[in-house]
Amino acid sequence: MACVVETVRAASGAYPVHIGPGALDAAADAAAAARRAGAGVLTVVSPGVRAALPAAVARFAALGPVHVTAADGETAKSAAELAALWEALAGAKIGRDGLVVALGGGVVGDLAGFAAASYLRGVALIQVPTTLLAMVDSSVGGKTGINLARGKNLAGAFHQPALVAADTALLATLPPRELAAGMAEVLKYGLLGDASLLAEVESAGRLSWDHPTLPGIIRRCVRMKAEVVGNDERETAAEGGRALLNLGHTFGHAIEAVAGYGAYLHGEAVGIGLAMAAALSRDLGLIAERDVARVVAAVEAQGLPSRLRAPLAADALVAAMRQDKKARGGEIRFVVLEALGRAATRGGIGEDAARRALLAHGAA
Ligand SMILES: NC(=O)c1ccc[n+]([C@@H]2O[C@H](COP(=O)([O-])OP(=O)(O)OC[C@H]3O[C@@H](n4cnc5c(N)ncnc54)[C@H](O)[C@@H]3O)[C@@H](O)[C@H]2O)c1
Repeated sequence: MACVVETVRAASGAYPVHIGPGALDAAADAAAAARRAGAGVLTVVSPGVRAALPAAVARFAALGPVHVTAADGETAKSAAELAALWEALAGAKIGRDGLVVALGGGVVGDLAGFAAASYLRGVALIQVPTTLLAMVDSSVGGKTGINLARGKNLAGAFHQPALVAADTALLATLPPRELAAGMAEVLKYGLLGDASLLAEVESAGRLSWDHPTLPGIIRRCVRMKAEVVGNDERETAAEGGRALLNLGHTFGHAIEAVAGYGAYLHGEAVGIGLAMAAALSRDLGLIAERDVARVVAAVEAQGLPSRLRAPLAADALVAAMRQDKKARGGEIRFVVLEALGRAATRGGIGEDAARRALLAHGAA
């Protein structure tokens, strides 16, 4: 498939998302045009991306400084890394007309995005996602942020990019475990709103970076995220809306927090969370046992776990869910499945029901 363009229409403005092999050209061309117009351009990468994708990095290095984060992975989303990035922007004399290019996974996208949102009260941002997770999820929609000691993504801002370029050729160097983690988010989209996407992923089997259907699958996810974000940019809808994108994430975030960040990749925790959300939905009488089995099989077919690798205490997981920033007044809110391909937000779900879902997938 050649490169295609989707448009995200947020209340704060519209922007293109280029998808497919060669999409990198669109980002490099836009950055070069900004540079020709006199803007300063600073590119942010992780140590891993600098090592894995030297040719892509070189295209942006030709336009301005490249800032390499000190840490790699989740710990790079810190206040210290943000401060270092602000200083790098000031040191490079990036002005109000400047441009930040986030070349990397969701970590670099969230960190560089927050720096772009806050430096000089906001400069332009181009997202060049290099992981599948970042392509289908984090690079689109404008959420940026860092972690605090007390939890993930507790400080941040909404800052939509000017352009997103999801070049699937950049996935060639991504470790298979990271690619699989991205597939958890793809399955999430299918389960929450597109049964035919779910079926397409099921029939494709385990996806590799060069699978011919991958660009089309990314496009469907981006389209769905664009639609949800277009209707509820700041997640203010009382029911449904952007919160639906959290399917599997209330369980997943709790697993990450209790197991210790790094024990499970985010996508792996989400894969287990999807299976748990399916079990909860079955216990609430919304879907059938065979639907749960189908969710478990779809998760496992991508090489993802559908249950905890080692037991975690259900009490600790429930406590972590109560602290989730989406909890309201201490009440845990879940995204449940009304069918495979249709989700809804639900409050008022008793702790016992959540506990049963946890126990069914490896908690103790
Ligand atoms: N803003 C949002 O809406 C949103 C949505 C979902 C997730 N997120 C955030 O995304 C983050 C996770 O992102 P991630 O899964 O992309 O992890 P990541 O950014 O840590 O990348 C994973 C690893 O792969 C390396 N890497 C990246 N691209 C590579 C490539 N092409 N080849 C070789 N190595 C490469 C990175 O250096 C890193 O070590 C989390 O912090 C999560 O909170 C944000």
